[in-house]
Amino acid sequence: MCGIVGYIGDKNASPILLEALRKLEYRGYDSAGIAVISAKKKLLVRKIKGRLSNLDLLVQQNPVEGNCGIGHTRWATHGEPSDLNSHPHTDVSQSIAVVHNGIIENHAQLRSWLERHQVSFASQTDSEVIAHLIDFHYNGDLLLAVRETIKRLEGSYAIAVVCSEHPQMMVVARKDSPLVIGRCEHANLVASDVPPLLSHTRDVQYLEDLDVAVITSEDVQIYNLDGERLEREVQHIEWDMEAAEKCGFEHFMLKEICEQPKALKDTLRARFKEEGLVFPQGVEALLKGAKHLLITGCGTAYHAGMVASYVIEQVASIPVEVVIASELRYRPLIKKEGEVCLLISQSGETADTIATLRMLKELGIPTLALTNVIGCTISREADWTIYTQAGPEIAVASTKAFTTQLLCLFTIAALLAKQDSAALLQALENLPSQAQLLLDRQEDIQRFAASQFNKTKVFFMGRLVDFAISLESALKLKEISYTHSEAFAAGELKHGPIALVDTSTLVVALCTQPTLYAKMDSNIKEVKARGATALVITFEHVHTFDDTADTIIRLPQTHPLFSPVLSVIVSQLYAYYCSVLKGNDPDKPRNLAKSVTVE
Ligand code: F6R
Repeated sequence: MCGIVGYIGDKNASPILLEALRKLEYRGYDSAGIAVISAKKKLLVRKIKGRLSNLDLLVQQNPVEGNCGIGHTRWATHGEPSDLNSHPHTDVSQSIAVVHNGIIENHAQLRSWLERHQVSFASQTDSEVIAHLIDFHYNGDLLLAVRETIKRLEGSYAIAVVCSEHPQMMVVARKDSPLVIGRCEHANLVASDVPPLLSHTRDVQYLEDLDVAVITSEDVQIYNLDGERLEREVQHIEWDMEAAEKCGFEHFMLKEICEQPKALKDTLRARFKEEGLVFPQGVEALLKGAKHLLITGCGTAYHAGMVASYVIEQVASIPVEVVIASELRYRPLIKKEGEVCLLISQSGETADTIATLRMLKELGIPTLALTNVIGCTISREADWTIYTQAGPEIAVASTKAFTTQLLCLFTIAALLAKQDSAALLQALENLPSQAQLLLDRQEDIQRFAASQFNKTKVFFMGRLVDFAISLESALKLKEISYTHSEAFAAGELKHGPIALVDTSTLVVALCTQPTLYAKMDSNIKEVKARGATALVITFEHVHTFDDTADTIIRLPQTHPLFSPVLSVIVSQLYAYYCSVLKGNDPDKPRNLAKSVTVE
C-alpha cells in the first residue's frame, strides 16, 4: 500500500526523500511525489505517475532544494493512477502539502462541504480533502489546524503535513495506518515503515492511534487530539541495513527464501531455553487453559493458521477453528467457553485482521498475536504477542515470515502436546538445517521450473497439512508468476477439479502423510491418465511414487506434521523461478501491496 516519508534536518531533503521512497517500493505503488519547502518559504511539489525513476527524472529536470519535505508512493484506491491524483496534495493557495496513507471514508461529504465553501479540487482522491481542511482550520498554528482536521476525518490515515510558513516543522498523525519516527542528530525522519529510516538511525518511536506529532530537526513532541503532551518510548531496532538490502541476491524474494534457515533458527532460539520451551509472560498459562482455539489471518498468514489447526488438533486434542479475518469480522460470532483467539499477521497492520481483533476484544475473547513487526498495531492492541524472528520481509510475496509463523505455531503445538513432546522438539530443532539442505539443492527446482514455466494451468493437491500447503503454493505461484493455479484437497479431485485436467496441466502432488501415500498415489494416477504432468513432493526414502510421478522432489525426513516448513520452500522456489523465467519482477508483483492496510 502507499508509503509515506518525511525529513527535516540540516541536509537537502529531496535526495533523502527519494532514497527513502525507494526503500518503500516493496509496498507496491503506481505513482510518486515529493514536496519540499525552499529557503524562500516556497512549497515546491514534484509528482508523477509511474515508477520512482520517473520522479527522479522530474526532480533532475526541475530540482527542489530545502531542509524540510515529505514524500509518497501511491497505490491507487480513489481515482486512477495519474500525475494529478499522485501525492502530495496541496490546498488551493499551494502553501500546505499533505501525504496520506489509508482511506478517508467520509471524503464525499467533506468534499461537498468544502466545495460549498468555494474550494476547488485538483484530483479525484479522497486524500485531497485533508489539505483543504487543514487550510480551512489554519490561522497560523499548523498543529491546531491538523488536530481540528483530524477530528473531522472518518476512516484510516497516516499523514505528514508541511506548510510554507513553517519551513522548520512537519506535523504528522495516524489512525489505523502505521507511522514511525526516526530520531537522529540534527535531523528527524518519519516513514510508514522502518527500512527507509535505517540508513539514518535505529532509534525509532512508533506513533499510536490519534497521536499527532510536531517534528523539527532537534525535537519531536507528541500530543493527543486535545493538545495534551504524550510520551512514546524510543525503541532501538536490532536489525540493520543489511537485513533490508539485497546483499548480492537478484531479488529480495530469493534472498528471503535463502534466509529461512537463519530465520527459523532465530525463531527457535527465542522459544528454546535451557529450562525448556519459554513463551512471553502469561502466554503459556493462556494456551494451557484454552479449551478452544480460534485462529485468524489473511492470505499466507491464514494458511499458516490452517496448517496449525491440523497439527494442534492432532497432538493436543484441542478443537481449532480457522477463519479468514475478512470473513470472521462479519460473521455472527458465538463465544465459546475457554476460547482463545490467535491472530496471525506478518506486518501486524492488515486492516481486516485489525478489525477482527477489535471485534474479538469487544466480545471479551482473549487475543494472542503472532507477528513479525515489533510495535505494530496488532501487537499493541492484542492482549499478548509472540514475535516471529524473520527479520524484515521486503518482497511482497511472503516466504520467511510464513515458515517462521509455522515454527512458532509448532512450538505452541509442542507445548500443548499430550505425548511425545520430546520427539516433537527434536524434530523442530532439526528443521533449520534441513531447510538448508533443501536450499542447497535448489538447482533441481530451478531446472524443473525451466521445463514447466509456460504451463498455463497448475494444480496443487494434498491431504491434511499438505492441502494447506497446496493452498499456499497456489497463492505463491499465482501472485508472482501470474499463472492460473488452484489448490484442492486431493480427495475432492473426483468431485469436480478433474474435469479441468488435460495434457496442458501440471499437477503438483504434496505427499508427506505416510498413512495417505496410497490414496495420493491413486489421485496421481487419475490425473496422469488424463495426460497431466505430475510433480510429487515427498520425503527421501519414499518410493511409493517412483513409477507414477514424472518428477519427484525429495525433502529431508522430518515429523510428517512439520513437513510444511520444508515442502513450502519447494513451492516458493518454483514460483520464484517461474516468475523470473517469465520476465516478471517477483519482488513487486502487479496489483499487489505488501501490507494491506485498507479493506
Ligand atoms: C502472500 C502474502 C499475503 C499476506 C496477507 C496478510 O504472499 O504475503 O497473502 O500474507 O496480505 O498479510 P499480513 O501477514 O501482513 O497480515
